[in-house]
Amino acid sequence: MKGMLSPSLMCADVLNLQSELETLDRLDVDYIHLDFMDNKFVPNITLDTSIVKACKTVLKHMRRDIHIMAYEPQQYFDRMEIGEGDVVSVHYEACDDLDGVIADIRARGASPYIAISPDTKPEVLCDYFDKIDGCVVMTVYPGFAGRPMVAGSFEKLKRTRQLIDESGRNVILEVDGNVSWDYCKKMRECGADVFVAGSSSIFQKGLKLDEAVARMKELVK
Ligand code: DX5
Ligand code: ZN
Repeated sequence: MKGMLSPSLMCADVLNLQSELETLDRLDVDYIHLDFMDNKFVPNITLDTSIVKACKTVLKHMRRDIHIMAYEPQQYFDRMEIGEGDVVSVHYEACDDLDGVIADIRARGASPYIAISPDTKPEVLCDYFDKIDGCVVMTVYPGFAGRPMVAGSFEKLKRTRQLIDESGRNVILEVDGNVSWDYCKKMRECGADVFVAGSSSIFQKGLKLDEAVARMKELVK
């Protein structure tokens, strides 16, 4: 599978979200990463459900890659208008009834992914590989942009890739957190398919978004 980008909207120019979205949509990027937080599972709030929903009216090519860092994520699905074409990541650590949440995402025509925080072992995913389309390995503690990569993250990515391959299922491996210019190539070598590009790479002062996206695509292809 080719390496794909999922630029993180919380790292974009928040006063110009529409033009940032339109630019990315024109650049042949596969996903737009939308971080939703409840200020409980993680101590922060970024994009709310109305922004996650409103993106639908702008996007022509990119799929929404909605990363829900919240307890009981199902309560937000209606307000986000989750449906066909969406990727929805829910945290393993945040769901009492993970099977029910996955089934709900599937029933809406969207692709269920499970995200795991740095302290969660990738082996927990094995029971779910036949039910999900992808998993997200967090390589920083979730909740904020610009955090440093947690030690052992490359090994964890490699191990997750190995577990997926052993399962024989076609599960996408996404990496989220400090996916920097320096680290992204190695993350690709560790087996990641989708790269959340945030403040560590394409959204940096002085960089032109089109040039940054092209450079990142080349590094993870
Ligand atoms: C972190 C978020 C990420 C974040 C990644 O909790 O899930 O999407 O924006 O961006 P950087 O590159 O700042 O780690
Ligand atoms: Zn995220």
